[in-house]
Amino acid sequence: MIDTKHTFLVFGSTGRTGRHFISLVLKEGHKVRALVRNPEKVEIENSNLELVKGSIIDFENINELVSGVDFVISMLGDAKLQKTKNVNTTFVKRLIPVMRRQGVKRFLYQAGGFSRPYKESLPFMFLVLKNTLVRFSGLLGQHRDNEAVIEYLVEEAKDIEWMVHRASIISDDNSKGVLLRSKTKNSLATFIDCATYNYLLLTDNSAIHTCDLSYYAKQ
Ligand SMILES: NC(=O)c1ccc[n+]([C@@H]2O[C@H](COP(=O)([O-])OP(=O)(O)OC[C@H]3O[C@@H](n4cnc5c(N)ncnc54)[C@H](OP(=O)(O)O)[C@@H]3O)[C@@H](O)[C@H]2O)c1
Repeated sequence: MIDTKHTFLVFGSTGRTGRHFISLVLKEGHKVRALVRNPEKVEIENSNLELVKGSIIDFENINELVSGVDFVISMLGDAKLQKTKNVNTTFVKRLIPVMRRQGVKRFLYQAGGFSRPYKESLPFMFLVLKNTLVRFSGLLGQHRDNEAVIEYLVEEAKDIEWMVHRASIISDDNSKGVLLRSKTKNSLATFIDCATYNYLLLTDNSAIHTCDLSYYAKQ
């Protein structure tokens, strides 16, 4: 789907979106470098896949991780830790300056549909669901962290070609179709469709500095 072969630096590649993402990107013939806490979770064997063991919390050599990559993508999440700490934000604040130094421009961050875009409020129904469903699922902290990442990117990373996907995901079922970008429309998608969407979004120049939802044009 993307003609030129690239190297993707992936965070969250053992997660529900991330594992579909690396599988697709490798199938397409690209290279993947992935920071993983538990390499044994990765079932793929591929000479184009480089696993680096470590955690975003205390990983020291970000310089080496970023060196030589074309795209950086985060599908990170640790809902338990994010209840009290903005761990993703702390990490993104360490990552972006390194990307700058290494001349790596493009960064995709997957947040959620309930993560508020910068200085905007969520539509009424999203607010209701956020204060009920999301709160009781213990995911408010994850969205607070995602929102802090978005704020940092908007305010302090204008020189980086960042894009945020505010995904709404319901299941790990098979593909239900192709997701498109929208400021207002969203669909409850599958992880595999979100992964495919992320892959295509990374080369979409019109998505730079957007923080949009995704929806199925046809189902
Ligand atoms: N799940 C949903 O329904 C949903 C819906 C909409 C949006 N989102 C958003 O999408 C993003 C990713 O969600 P997901 O559900 O695909 O992810 P997930 O299944 O929760 O997986 C999270 C990934 O992050 C990795 N990770 C967590 N802490 C780490 C650390 N300290 N160092 C290195 N890696 C770490 C995990 O590694 P381990 O395997 O080692 O744990 C895993 O690979 C989140 O921002 C979330 O808000 C999710």
